[in-house]
Amino acid sequence: MSMQQTIRIAPSILSADFARLGEEVQKVSKAGADYIHIDVMDGHFVPNITIGPEIIKALRPYTILPFDVHLMISPVDPYIEAFAIAGADIITIHVEATPNVNQSINIIHELGKRAGVSIKPETPVSALKPFINNIDLILVMTVNPGFGGQVFIQSQLEKIRLLRQMIDNSGRTIDLEVDGGINSLTAIDAVEAGADVLVAGSATFKGENYKKNIISLRNASKAID
Ligand code: DX5
Ligand code: ZN
Repeated sequence: MSMQQTIRIAPSILSADFARLGEEVQKVSKAGADYIHIDVMDGHFVPNITIGPEIIKALRPYTILPFDVHLMISPVDPYIEAFAIAGADIITIHVEATPNVNQSINIIHELGKRAGVSIKPETPVSALKPFINNIDLILVMTVNPGFGGQVFIQSQLEKIRLLRQMIDNSGRTIDLEVDGGINSLTAIDAVEAGADVLVAGSATFKGENYKKNIISLRNASKAID
């Protein structure tokens, strides 16, 4: 039996107006978001630099929604605690970013947070297998991490299908999140393949009507019922 959960929408604030970030978080929360996806980049693991713990701490009062913090940084372990203290609820690390993934997962859990593990487009699903019994979320990158507004890589759909099977076979409740190039069309493919959390940056923050944008992403999940 498929353990695919209710579809949740996680706007990536990478595409928000950085000069008004608090307001943007508030606005997207009122518009019906489920998680706030926060992309942390270090200019080393990925070729861009974005948000650190101080900004997350400053944003924390603007919403009660879970902060879904996507760490694209290496090394990662020395910084996990700072993100937990700043207000992260889910902390996702990359398997490619650290030699001892279980150690990072354990640090996250010891801090009382949900642990996610992510893979880049070139990384096979087998890289996640050793951690399946110890994680709360899997994040499949459907673009090369670093920037918003890129095109969804279709070949990743097969990985989402395989991961859906792996999660179902595990019998555990694990979010299957997809990140990169999600719009109201690619959302249909991702959900059909088994994803249940959709990250969307540019598709959420385009124009003024975030509510309409979120509804059209959520409707994608209904299209396959
Ligand atoms: C890319 C980030 C994504 C990005 C998604 O490295 O992890 O979360 O913001 O942006 P869109 O939805 O515009 O592809
Ligand atoms: Zn992300």
